[in-house]
Amino acid sequence: MKKFEKMMSTVCMAGLLFCFTACGSSGGNQNTGGQPETPKATISAPEETDKSPDSEAVEQTTDQDAEIMEPVDTGEEIGEETNKEAGKVLVAYFSATGTTKALAEYAADALGADLYEIVPEEPYTDEDLNYSDRNTRATVEQNDKNARPAITSSVENMEQYEIVFLGYPIWWGEAPRIVDTFMESYEFGGKTIVPFCTSGSSGIGSSATNLHGLCTDDVTWLDGVRLGSSSSREDIAEWINSLGLDVEAE
Ligand SMILES: Cc1cc2nc3c(=O)[nH]c(=O)nc-3n(C[C@H](O)[C@H](O)[C@H](O)COP(=O)(O)O)c2cc1C
Repeated sequence: MKKFEKMMSTVCMAGLLFCFTACGSSGGNQNTGGQPETPKATISAPEETDKSPDSEAVEQTTDQDAEIMEPVDTGEEIGEETNKEAGKVLVAYFSATGTTKALAEYAADALGADLYEIVPEEPYTDEDLNYSDRNTRATVEQNDKNARPAITSSVENMEQYEIVFLGYPIWWGEAPRIVDTFMESYEFGGKTIVPFCTSGSSGIGSSATNLHGLCTDDVTWLDGVRLGSSSSREDIAEWINSLGLDVEAE
């Protein structure tokens, strides 16, 4: 009987030893939390939300995530690639008197992005822009929701861009109608659009949200901002970097 008990205890010990070895050899990326392992996603653009991009990033990336995250081979060269080489950011703008143009240039420069000016086929003269006279061209256009002033050139290969910064001056509380022409000229589906404006004093108001209706629903619109006309290159880079996008401005 003693001999049988001794034999059984040896068999049990061997079984336990086997279990430990088998469980411990299933890989270093062990999920110890008892939850199914979920793939890690790259956050490329925040959704429109009241939360600041920073607080969102803190919520979604914890120290624990960082510890167990494995590098994923995306097939892309790592390290040397600038935003421009990635070819994914476009700064498009309309500017009648140069204020928005200067800030758009800072943005494109800081991002290493492509720059596109929305140039009217019929240039706006000083008289056209005289908002003291309600009968001048710019004001007449703004009063007509269907006005679509023609644009001279087009963006080459719009498909390549993932993020489009869109700059314009405020005209009577809205984006100039030529910006509507631009929005209706391309497919922006799947892209992120970052609207910004300059003005005498008005905020961006509903000017950007009015543009949403000209695009398909699958566009991610970031909140628009009014940039001060005296903003420096550094101010613009700081603003861009506060957006929480997958691009960096220098
Ligand atoms: C026709 C017209 C309407 C304007 N309406 C407004 C307005 O509603 N609110 C405001 O603050 N500025 C208004 N402005 C001033 C421009 O928004 C401002 O000067 C802007 O920075 C010009 O940008 P740009 O130099 O890029 O064209 C208006 C200007 C024009 C020509």
